[in-house]
Amino acid sequence: MAKAVNFAVVGLGMGSHHCKAIAAAKGARLLAVCDLDESRVRPLAAQYGCKAYRRYRDVLGDPEVDVVNIVTESGYHAAMGVQAVRAGKHLMMEKPIDITPARIGRLESAVAASGLKCGCILQLRLDACNLALKKAIDRGSMGKVLGVHAGLPWFRGAAYYSGPHGTWRGTWKLDGGGSMMNQGIHTIDLMTYFGGPIERVCGFHAVQGHDIEAEDHTVACVRFACGALGTIFTTTCAQPENAQQFHCFGTKGSFRKRGDTLEMYEMGSPKERERMNARFGERVGTGAASDPMAISSDGHTLLVEDMSRAVREDRTPMIPLASARHAVDVVHAIYQSGRTGREVRIANGRG
Ligand SMILES: NC(=O)c1ccc[n+]([C@@H]2O[C@H](COP(=O)([O-])OP(=O)(O)OC[C@H]3O[C@@H](n4cnc5c(N)ncnc54)[C@H](O)[C@@H]3O)[C@@H](O)[C@H]2O)c1
Repeated sequence: MAKAVNFAVVGLGMGSHHCKAIAAAKGARLLAVCDLDESRVRPLAAQYGCKAYRRYRDVLGDPEVDVVNIVTESGYHAAMGVQAVRAGKHLMMEKPIDITPARIGRLESAVAASGLKCGCILQLRLDACNLALKKAIDRGSMGKVLGVHAGLPWFRGAAYYSGPHGTWRGTWKLDGGGSMMNQGIHTIDLMTYFGGPIERVCGFHAVQGHDIEAEDHTVACVRFACGALGTIFTTTCAQPENAQQFHCFGTKGSFRKRGDTLEMYEMGSPKERERMNARFGERVGTGAASDPMAISSDGHTLLVEDMSRAVREDRTPMIPLASARHAVDVVHAIYQSGRTGREVRIANGRG
């Protein structure tokens, strides 16, 4: 049997989910955990029987580490990723890859120059319903895509933005924004998964319900490269909160999805409609609407397994940097539009 690929998780808030995912993944081993906050390191190292580090440079100096998972505050991601590839480590990057296109560009150059692998975490692409919808769109069941409309009416209480690990959230410097960059990035990513790259955006953002700097409510209109139009809103102010929602339509049909439930699927053959409704029509679930830690580790586990195989087989991971960065380019452009009051074009798919 091939030797397991050794992972080190750095940043142990959401990183605790990475630990669980790595422990569950075939072909992967959790070798080490690392956090500046020792109270987060010790319990996880004991639980998984792995090495415990407080200093990132010690992770990078450990010759047994193959892959470094970066799960620190978003504004540190790219710089820590560059350090890791310089130390000869493969990378797994949590969303968002970082908070500016320029920093992600520097990471992309470092990864390309190193020949190392960089896989990205956008686990909602691997949700069975989202995968089935993507396949249906790609095989033409919707016809030409005309509209991709999405919403994320979530709620976060004041405690989420305070305490020893909360004050970076909702800041421009480390979160790169608020409800759209942090919570909404998956929704933007799925919009582009369904509708392809976004070319132009107009946005507004505001702080309405929290004592934070950046935003807790953002709305935008977008134009896709394929000609489709879309709208999105993200918020952490909605009470009662509700699940992520999509309403998409094309020349041959539409679907509407809320949380895990396909509320309407009117496209493709009668057999296809029956199959999709039977599989996804009755599910309930609101994802991480009110609790950021209430997400499933399944998507993370699949991405860890893919990363392990990518390292062993010397191939590109399932979600490479080039694909994961577009959502950040779009959010960055929406904020720029909100600040300037102008439409912003995403040049060559980049902000
Ligand atoms: N995929 C998802 O659905 C999902 C869900 C939640 C959070 N996230 C992302 O995960 C990242 C972390 O979010 P969080 O909520 O866990 O934040 P958090 O503040 O709870 O955790 C970040 C941890 O990183 C540690 N850290 C910072 N710099 C370090 C360094 N140099 N060396 C070692 N440790 C360091 C901090 O001490 C902290 O414990 C963010 O980018 C966030 O957007 C992703």
